[in-house]
Amino acid sequence: MRIDVVSIFPTIFDALEVSLLGKARQSGLLDVHVHDLRAFTHDRHRTVDDTPYGGGAGMVMKPEPWGEALDAVTGGAVARPVIVFPSPAGERFTQATARELSTAPHLVFGCGRYEGIDERVFDYAAELGDVRLLSLGDYVLNGGEVAVMAMVEAIGRLIPGVVGNPESLVEESHEDGLLEYPSFTKPALWREREVPPVLLSGNHGAVAAWRREQQLVRTRERRPDLLPD
Ligand code: ADE
Repeated sequence: MRIDVVSIFPTIFDALEVSLLGKARQSGLLDVHVHDLRAFTHDRHRTVDDTPYGGGAGMVMKPEPWGEALDAVTGGAVARPVIVFPSPAGERFTQATARELSTAPHLVFGCGRYEGIDERVFDYAAELGDVRLLSLGDYVLNGGEVAVMAMVEAIGRLIPGVVGNPESLVEESHEDGLLEYPSFTKPALWREREVPPVLLSGNHGAVAAWRREQQLVRTRERRPDLLPD
């Protein structure tokens, strides 16, 4: 999968060089290119923002650098890319979204800052690719960078070969609509706390039933919104 990220803080994405995603980049499973939006400006101050038409607080990102950046990262592409703009005003990014995007050959992420990007940019981007405005959740970050880091990790780990043991992807929170069951390792007794005896029983059926029950209990307690009425 090819991933292009456009941001005014490209060094934030240095973190993608470590851990499993770093390995996936080295092995060629992930081809990540990070671009500085200011490289697509032409004035001495490398201006990317301006005051909003109609007045109001804050600054809006100018369309011209975005237009040139999107032209550059989508030009010559083999497949039509999916162009993602992280935004608290977008549709919710979920495990299902991650799964869907993990099959795309080319993803472009445009990181907004300030009060957002000139709305015409989204309209223009729709000529170049399939545009998605995606929100991590109902809270506001200072910009899209941290959201894109989260999305790239959630998507990247679903690409076959990125996570060593594919079975570890199956029994995770959200994969079957429930939260994950609790996990324990040795020692069996730690600071007066025991591992649930069923896990030491060797009875695979009983273990599976206990884990399922734990998933339901946790989901009911912590995320009742995930359960059907
Ligand atoms: N940018 C700012 N806040 C965001 C959020 N909650 N999700 C995605 N992108 C954002």
